[in-house]
Amino acid sequence: MSVNNAKVTGQAPPLLLIEALRVETNSPVEPVTILDGVCLQISNNETFALIGESGCGKTMTALATLGLLPINVRTYGAVIFQGKNLRNIAEQDLNQIRGRHIAMIFQHAKSAFNPTFTIGTQMVEVICTHLQLRKIPARARALDLLAEIGLPDPDFVFNAYPHQLSGGMAQRAMIAMGLSCGPQLVIADEPTSALDSKTQREIVRLLRHMQKNYGFTLWLISHDLALVAKIADKIAVMKDGCIIESGSAATLLQKPRHAYTKLLLSQCKINQAQPQKTRAPVTVR
Ligand SMILES: Nc1ncnc2c1ncn2[C@@H]1O[C@H](COP(=O)(O)OP(=O)(O)O)[C@@H](O)[C@H]1O
Ligand SMILES: [Mg+2]
Repeated sequence: MSVNNAKVTGQAPPLLLIEALRVETNSPVEPVTILDGVCLQISNNETFALIGESGCGKTMTALATLGLLPINVRTYGAVIFQGKNLRNIAEQDLNQIRGRHIAMIFQHAKSAFNPTFTIGTQMVEVICTHLQLRKIPARARALDLLAEIGLPDPDFVFNAYPHQLSGGMAQRAMIAMGLSCGPQLVIADEPTSALDSKTQREIVRLLRHMQKNYGFTLWLISHDLALVAKIADKIAVMKDGCIIESGSAATLLQKPRHAYTKLLLSQCKINQAQPQKTRAPVTVR
């Protein structure tokens, strides 16, 4: 549904609408297509999953949304967030949206933090910048969030450098930082792929728990259909830079139309009749 259609039908417009997003390398000789006309829409408060094999363009779609693509590519199309085309706004306006209204949780949390500053310094900077708080209340907010995401010793994590944390601790800290300014949309790019299976389950439960408490929309990026089947409301399947199929999780899992979706389903053990929601309370080590 486009923003104009939403006005006509009286339905709420989508929170994020990506239209005909095309990304290609700007090589003068032979440009390589990375995203080939991606269209997707994400509604308020849903969990939207983008799945597909490694290299198909999931991360590039998210980075294009935030205007964070590398400089060696050209981009076409529209990225409309809350009615505003993010591709047409000034860099300083985009900076206000990144981190404040759209947060991204990166795949490798440890390397996504700046290694030369403590977790606390980085969290306080984000909070001070976006919420115009002074350092003392920003510090209190950061420590509260580190406690809320279930870290047993928030003070230690606050004062630690990224390399001093385990993968699971760093991922939790990244989630805390992502949520620190109350974003409407959280993009979680393969948030569990670098973790062991127990920690993976905990992180998924944590995301669901925080989504319930904070009411944000979750855009989950994954190559793991079994994970996505547990928590997504809507799923889009990506292959070779295109969305080949999308729809409600229940329909897509029960009646996949595309041969590639069928293949993905056949490769993982899912109870296709019953996509479950993981809504159990968080238990954290
Ligand atoms: N800086 C870049 N320049 C050119 N191509 C890139 C760049 N970064 C990624 N790509 C290519 O874009 C494609 C999609 O990458 P990506 O979005 O990271 O895949 P996914 O997240 O689905 O694993 C890949 O073929 C990758 O090689
Ligand atoms: Mg990726």
